Amino acid sequence: MTASSKHSDATDAKLGKDPVARTPRANGMPVAGSVGGAGGSADAPSGHSATLGGSYLTAEISAGALRHNFAIIRQHIAPSADICAVVKGNCYGHGLATTLELLEELTDCFGVATPEEAIVLRQLGCLRPILMFLPACGWASGQELRQALDRLIIENVMLTLVDADEVHAVSQAARRVGCQAEAHVMVDTGMGRGGAELGQAAALIEMVRNDPYIALTGVYTHFATADEGDLDFAREQLRLLLAVVDSSGGREGLTLHAANGAAMMELPETHLDMVRPGIPIYGYPPSDTLTANWPLRPCLRLTGQLMQIMTVKAGSRCGYGLTYQFERDTPVGLVPVGYADGYLRSLSGLSTMRIRGQDAPTRGRVSMDQVVLDLTHVPAARVGDEVEIISADPASPHSVANLARLAGTIPYEITCRLGRRVRRVLVD
Ligand SMILES: Cc1ncc(COP(=O)(O)O)c(C=O)c1O
Repeated sequence: MTASSKHSDATDAKLGKDPVARTPRANGMPVAGSVGGAGGSADAPSGHSATLGGSYLTAEISAGALRHNFAIIRQHIAPSADICAVVKGNCYGHGLATTLELLEELTDCFGVATPEEAIVLRQLGCLRPILMFLPACGWASGQELRQALDRLIIENVMLTLVDADEVHAVSQAARRVGCQAEAHVMVDTGMGRGGAELGQAAALIEMVRNDPYIALTGVYTHFATADEGDLDFAREQLRLLLAVVDSSGGREGLTLHAANGAAMMELPETHLDMVRPGIPIYGYPPSDTLTANWPLRPCLRLTGQLMQIMTVKAGSRCGYGLTYQFERDTPVGLVPVGYADGYLRSLSGLSTMRIRGQDAPTRGRVSMDQVVLDLTHVPAARVGDEVEIISADPASPHSVANLARLAGTIPYEITCRLGRRVRRVLVD
């Protein structure tokens, strides 16, 4: 695995030394460089709002919280273990372009899902190793696939291989572009959601090892139940991964990795050479049932402004379907957030927001762009007041975790769905 650099190497990256160029290659073939350079902002609000310079919603991403969470993670893993920061899904909604420079300092490697995510990372100037989790092929064919593989190899993205057809396709692409591809084999040790089949994994590893156009630098698996109370299945998955690797030429030269955030927190024996935390980086525990109680700090705060205030009459209703009826004359305010921004419709009538230091309940249905807030207990509220829609305080009723509970979902969905209309800004 190429991600052997630690914090201090961030200085190199800043000085323009490309960690990619230090990548050891198995057979001395040329090494692809990163195109680097400025790219489009993956987090910019789309279309007109970017043009007009305005955005109704602001997601403040706390640099301090991100630093803190990485420090907590480093405290708990062996000094020899690398961190692969999982930044797929636009950094779980927190904004890749907004956070990348800081994350480059903090992590050793980045984990993404798709070719596009990998290429955007390089376009934004990412110099760290990038591992693409989804299988390299299968998502496209013909010319489209060939072009994508060529580009990924040139950009030195580490590809995930799961079967012999992929090995052939990647090997051919590497030959075409004249530089070695770097790959990890993913083994399905029981999750049943992709990866080399267990019975064929050892042979696949041998095959990749013997391919002169591919450098096999890692083997990994993914846990199905590390975030659930019973960890026996995860332990068995780990045993199977190690058995496969040991039966296929051993661990020499390989980065072995398995731990997602939950396993990282619950099962130290899964740390191996690298951990792959996603949700803990951003400050949320992977589930409610973990025994590990790491003091992570949520790094997201979402705000908007009160757009309009009106008084509705006793007996009147509000929102689509007129699902809520006011018992008395009530001051209400309009908040410019809706399910197009990732504020789930299933929060309708359940959630609160904070305004002028008070928690105010939402009323009626969440629509695409608007929510009605009951201002009965905030008589001083004025148009233009800041409304805190998501709080970074885990104890707040509108923290990511509590909104997830109210909506019957997981924190991942609350943050990942934050839409393109939300402006992301890095704050201290
Ligand atoms: C392969 C892989 N590793 C690690 C992670 C990170 O998981 P988590 O966000 O639960 O820490 C993911 C996320 O789904 C993943 O797909």
